[in-house]
Amino acid sequence: MVGAMKTGQTVLTIALCLAPAAHAAGGAAGSAQADAIAKAKYRWEQSPHGALLERILPPAVEPGDLPEPRSAGARLATTYCVQCHYLPNPAMHNAAKWQPVVERMVWRMEGRGNLGELMQDMMADVKAPSAHERATLVRYLQKHAQKEIDPGKYPDFRSPAGQIFAIACSQCHVPPDPKRHTAREWPRVVERMQRNMAWANRVTGDPLLRTSPALDTAEIIRFLQRNSRTH
Ligand code: HEC
Ligand code: HEC
Repeated sequence: MVGAMKTGQTVLTIALCLAPAAHAAGGAAGSAQADAIAKAKYRWEQSPHGALLERILPPAVEPGDLPEPRSAGARLATTYCVQCHYLPNPAMHNAAKWQPVVERMVWRMEGRGNLGELMQDMMADVKAPSAHERATLVRYLQKHAQKEIDPGKYPDFRSPAGQIFAIACSQCHVPPDPKRHTAREWPRVVERMQRNMAWANRVTGDPLLRTSPALDTAEIIRFLQRNSRTH
């Protein structure tokens, strides 16, 4: 176990060294960042706490899939936010939520929280963003954030289908605005969310932890499609 922890720390150092190089290298930034993420994944595999870290966020976006991938905000997210888990998607949370999430994450990067002693060794080399970088990051995440559904605009929000949607789709973020996607796009998004749920073990896990009412994706998809963007 001690051996595995050592390997993890070595790789963590390499991952962190690559990230600033990515800034300087310009064109090579993409591959250096991809490298840093590959190293972070390797670190989880080596660490006794890897399984726990790996399950915090699902593997949803690669650095190249981020909105405005070459912007300062995207680069900062790739530098700081993959030190402990998969890269977060800015579209996961609404603008209001990102500020407190980033604050909590910076607090963790400063070595607090992190399940107390449990992660101490692994977190020893984690870097935290400066105040300026923090502001850039929050602005970036807010610019590309999710929009919450305005229940007043959707009469069927109060219907059983709307309530199934509201319960199932507010477990990890605000329930999204149905206008975010077209009727064609929604089934694939909901399918991905089902995988996200399985990943976080919220709905498909232990029967005792399962959401009630049970997740009826067909009903949710119909609700979203009825209210979706038309173009
Ligand atoms: C020092 C390790 C560490 C770093 C670095 C880190 N996180 Fe986290 N993150 C965690 C832990 C631990 C959790 C689970 C506990 C929690 O939510 O506080 C988490 C959970 C999350 C979640 C899911 C929970 C929620 O509230 O939605 C999001 C989103 C997130 N982090 C975003 C970020 C962003 C954005 C960054 C970069 C600014 C970042 N993280 C950097 C440790 C970290
Ligand atoms: C287990 C937690 C979880 C639940 C429950 C969940 N989501 Fe998500 N959602 C995420 C995560 C993580 C992301 C960011 C990663 C991604 O896009 O897959 C996200 C992102 C999104 C986005 C923004 C990205 C995009 O493609 O537009 C939408 C919209 C969304 N979810 C809709 C839904 C809907 C609809 C439901 C209910 C069926 C739902 N979510 C339930 C975790 C969850």
